[in-house]
Amino acid sequence: MTQLTVLGIETSCDETAAAVVRLSVGEQSVPPTGEILSNIVFSQIEEHKRFGGVVPEIAARSHVTRLDGLIEEAVREAGIDLEGLDGIAATAGPGLIGGVMVGLVTGKALALAGQKPFVAVNHLEAHLLTIRLTSPAPDMAFPYLLLLVSGGHCQLVNVRGLGDYEVYGTTLDDAAGEAFDKAAKLLGLGYPGGPEIEICARTGDPSAIDLPRPLQHDGSCNFSFSGLKTALRTCARAMEPVSQNEIADLAASFQAAITDCLAERCTNAMARFAADHPQADKKLVVAGGVAANCVIRARLSDTARNQGFSLACAPAALCTDNAAMIAWTGAERLLAGQHDGLDTAPQARWPLEDVTVPGA
Ligand code: KG4
Ligand code: ZN
Repeated sequence: MTQLTVLGIETSCDETAAAVVRLSVGEQSVPPTGEILSNIVFSQIEEHKRFGGVVPEIAARSHVTRLDGLIEEAVREAGIDLEGLDGIAATAGPGLIGGVMVGLVTGKALALAGQKPFVAVNHLEAHLLTIRLTSPAPDMAFPYLLLLVSGGHCQLVNVRGLGDYEVYGTTLDDAAGEAFDKAAKLLGLGYPGGPEIEICARTGDPSAIDLPRPLQHDGSCNFSFSGLKTALRTCARAMEPVSQNEIADLAASFQAAITDCLAERCTNAMARFAADHPQADKKLVVAGGVAANCVIRARLSDTARNQGFSLACAPAALCTDNAAMIAWTGAERLLAGQHDGLDTAPQARWPLEDVTVPGA
């Protein structure tokens, strides 16, 4: 049995996070299993709320203030010290560059001080692999189809193996979470918008307002949400003054439109995945903050079942940004024999297509 205990650091957006994860693996043919020894997340939401979105400079400064303490707490809670770690992993991108620099430099410094291998982690890859940390090992062997729906990203990915990702489709404009955030702002709801819209929509009628389903029937796996947001604005303006009930109807109709779009795109992607992997188990995984939405989860569950796919979602706390996913990705890469130099540069943009397969 091989075990790897890794510290993960996440600072790419508005969560400052540190976690310690232990990977265990027996036979080569069985995927590794994970155990979260600590997982500390500090959400900066309160600091950004009054601006209605993340302010990069405030985020970076807040990471500087809190990260050291969070790392200490994560290591202490895990019941180990720096010496007991097998490696250190930090997000190196994509993300807000000031924040990424804070976590990356801290991770490198710890690796240098402790003489530990360092892994520079792609934040998107970490979302893709989280399900392997949280599921029983045999269930999440590669390949699987993944829908990543977060505030910054909206992609359908064929996860063929570690570092081997084929992007089936991506957003042409806004990410799904971003669309929720902008719609909530427009309706006078709070930030972040996704949970606010979900709550408000509970008392609304999802068929009350006729909103478009962009790209419907084009057969692709791409997404587009900016037209939907514009349509919502136009409808809301036409209804002014808007009552509380009408706001609930607008929120419910908007959520229904996004849900329809996600379900239809996933159907296209499932057909493509089944054709690409005729022998493989058919698994759809949903990751990212928007996966916390119960209406979307329930709908995707039905859609998957209709296509003969199983649906898996990580627990909500691991769908949103966290450092356990960074530590896990670091551990998977260390297991595959990879680590990175201390000269690794932060990257504001780092598409999944540019992520490397270890040893290739
Ligand atoms: O994955 P995440 O924590 O951060 C990014 O990497 O972007 O995702 C945050 C996004 C926000 O846009 C937020 O509005 C959205 O996820 N979100 C939701 C829900 N909870 C969070 N969207 C819809 N419904 C929710 N319940
Ligand atoms: Zn994220």
